[in-house]
Amino acid sequence: SYSRVCTTARRGKVQGNGGGRMGPEDLSEMLAAGTKEVHEKAENTQFVKDFLRGRIRKELFKLGAVALYHTYTAMEEEIERNKDHPQFAPLYFPAELHRHEALAHDLEYFYGPDWKSKISCSQATQHYVDRIHQVGQEDPVLLVAHAYTRYMGDLSGGQVLRKVAQRALKLPPTGEGLEFYQFDAIHSAKAFKQLYRSRMNELELDMAAKKKLVAEAVKAFHFNMEVFEELEEIGKTIQEDVQDAGMSVHGQMGGDIS
Ligand code: HEM
Repeated sequence: SYSRVCTTARRGKVQGNGGGRMGPEDLSEMLAAGTKEVHEKAENTQFVKDFLRGRIRKELFKLGAVALYHTYTAMEEEIERNKDHPQFAPLYFPAELHRHEALAHDLEYFYGPDWKSKISCSQATQHYVDRIHQVGQEDPVLLVAHAYTRYMGDLSGGQVLRKVAQRALKLPPTGEGLEFYQFDAIHSAKAFKQLYRSRMNELELDMAAKKKLVAEAVKAFHFNMEVFEELEEIGKTIQEDVQDAGMSVHGQMGGDIS
């Protein structure tokens, strides 16, 4: 039922886009339509569903932040490399969007001053990171797809996720540990998304390039889902450890409770 709500919201946005100057051949429309199905899939991964229900353990949330840190470090490194590229420059909004620093603060909060030596890049995250670097260096136009997938998503669901995480993990209301979800330089997410869409639509791209971009955005969603699935698997082992511990206590007690 959640995905139905979301689908409606996305459709409403696509059709009712302030002034209605956008058409089906506009990149923003093509991206929204072309990722609609994979967006629903992403929302329905177990990890995301659990997160939305507030069923998230702190250790897993921290690993999620680590994955995001590596992802945004790669993405923003490639964005900096390509900030003057004519097919990316109009989307260069470092003050408004960039998350690298926010994530570094969050990780310092969770792991302490020595956080950098305590984290590593998981396999699924590394796949995502490798693709971002490849795109940034070999086909920078496709960077648009990666920026779209993450930043537009963060601006859409971010506020809900922040509240869920704060409540579930009992994080301080000061916002520590949740800077990632807080876009201080964006006052209206809705207005900013409209600006971002119009900037995407003004990029000089032929239909073939736009189609390649949509395909890359679908890929970006899949990279994200692989990270979610990996986190879910790790979550199971955390749970299993707990259960194992319980079992061994039974064992010590002779195991003959009945
Ligand atoms: C847009 C919800 C997960 C990427 C949206 C919108 C909603 C939404 C309601 C429409 C906002 C608007 O048009 O103003 C959710 C929920 C999720 C979720 C409830 C589950 C927690 C994701 C994930 C990604 C993502 C995992 C990708 C990593 C996007 C993108 C858009 C978007 C790129 C912009 C669509 C467009 O207008 O072109 N999301 N989302 N979302 N979401 Fe999500």
